Amino acid sequence: MNLPEFHRGRRLRRSAALRGMVREVKLCADDLIMPYFVVDTPDHAFRKPIDSMPGQYQLSLNELEKQVGSAVAAGLKSVLLFGIPSAKDPLGSGAYAEDGIVQKAVRMLKKNWPELVVVTDVCLCEYTSHGHCGMIGEGDTIGRVLNDPTLELLAKTAVSHARAGADIVAPSDMMDGRVLAIRESLDEAGFEDLPIMSYAVKYASCYYGPFRDAAEGAPKFGDRRTYQMDPGVVKEAFRELSADIEEGADIFIVKPAGPYQDIIRMLDDAFDVPMAAYQVSGEYSMICAAAQNGWLDEKATVMESLLGIRRSGAKLIITYFAEKALKEGWIR
Ligand code: PBG
Ligand code: ZN
Repeated sequence: MNLPEFHRGRRLRRSAALRGMVREVKLCADDLIMPYFVVDTPDHAFRKPIDSMPGQYQLSLNELEKQVGSAVAAGLKSVLLFGIPSAKDPLGSGAYAEDGIVQKAVRMLKKNWPELVVVTDVCLCEYTSHGHCGMIGEGDTIGRVLNDPTLELLAKTAVSHARAGADIVAPSDMMDGRVLAIRESLDEAGFEDLPIMSYAVKYASCYYGPFRDAAEGAPKFGDRRTYQMDPGVVKEAFRELSADIEEGADIFIVKPAGPYQDIIRMLDDAFDVPMAAYQVSGEYSMICAAAQNGWLDEKATVMESLLGIRRSGAKLIITYFAEKALKEGWIR
C-alpha cells in the first residue's frame, strides 16, 4: 500500500468552490472607506483631475454630491473627507470655520445620505499658509511646529466637524496629546458618543507625495519628520497606540498600509482594538502606473494588495480604490 508521505495541498485547490470554502480572509463593502477631496470654489462644476492619482479628482460640493451618489448606489458605506479651502493663513482658520468646506460637505452628505458614515480628516496642513500640520513658532521657537498650542486648534476643528454632523473624526496631524484634547472638547460640546479614529501610527513616508498635490498641503519649508514617525522605528508603534487608547481613541490607523504590514500585524496581535490601515496615495499611484503600462493587471493587483492589508490584521481599509472596486463589482 502506498501511503502519502507528503502534504497534498492541491486537494483543496482543485475548484473555485473548494478554494472558496477554505478561504479565511475576504473583503467586503463594510471594510472600505473612500477618501474624497472637496474644494471651496464658486465654480459648481469644478472637477479637476489629480495628475499623479489617475481617476481621482478635486471636486466642488456639487460634483462631490454626484460622485458620492454614484458610489453609494454601488454600495459604498463610508467616506473620508479632505478639504481644500479658498484661502489659507498661518493658523489654518479654514479648518475650524463654521462654513468651512469640510463642514459644508458634511452637511450636504448627511442630508442626502443619513446612513453614510462620514469621516473627517482633522488636520491643519491643507489650511495653513506654511503647509505644516501645526502652528509655527516665532521668536525663540521660530520655524518649529509647536505641539501644545496646536492642540486647541485641532480640538476646535473636530468639534466644528461634529457640529456639522460628522460620524467619526480622524486626527492625522501627529501632535502629542491631540486625542485627549479632542476627546475632552467633544465631550464638553455634548458629543461623547462620537468616535475618534486616530492616525495612531503614521510614518513620515514618501508615499504621501501624490496626496500633497491632491490636497495642496505640501509643507512650504522643511518636512514632517519632526512629528511623523521614523520608518525604521518599530517599538514606538506600541507606545503611540497605547497612548491613543488611554487618551480615548476608538479606531486606530496604521499608515501607509502595504509597506508597514508588519506593524499592522504586530499591533493587531498586541491590542484588542479595531484596526484600520490607509493604503495611501503613493501606493495607489504605483498600482495605477503599472496597470496603465500593461505591466500588472489592475483588478488582480488591487485585490491582492487589499487582501494583504486585510490579512495583516486591518479590519478597515482606507483606499482610493474603494469606489472603483464596488462599481466594478470586485468587492460587494
Ligand atoms: C495630512 C495627511 C496626509 C495624508 C493624510 N492626511 C499627508 C501628510 O501627512 O503629508 C496622506 C494620505 C495619502 O497619501 O493618501 N495630515
Ligand atoms: Zn496634516
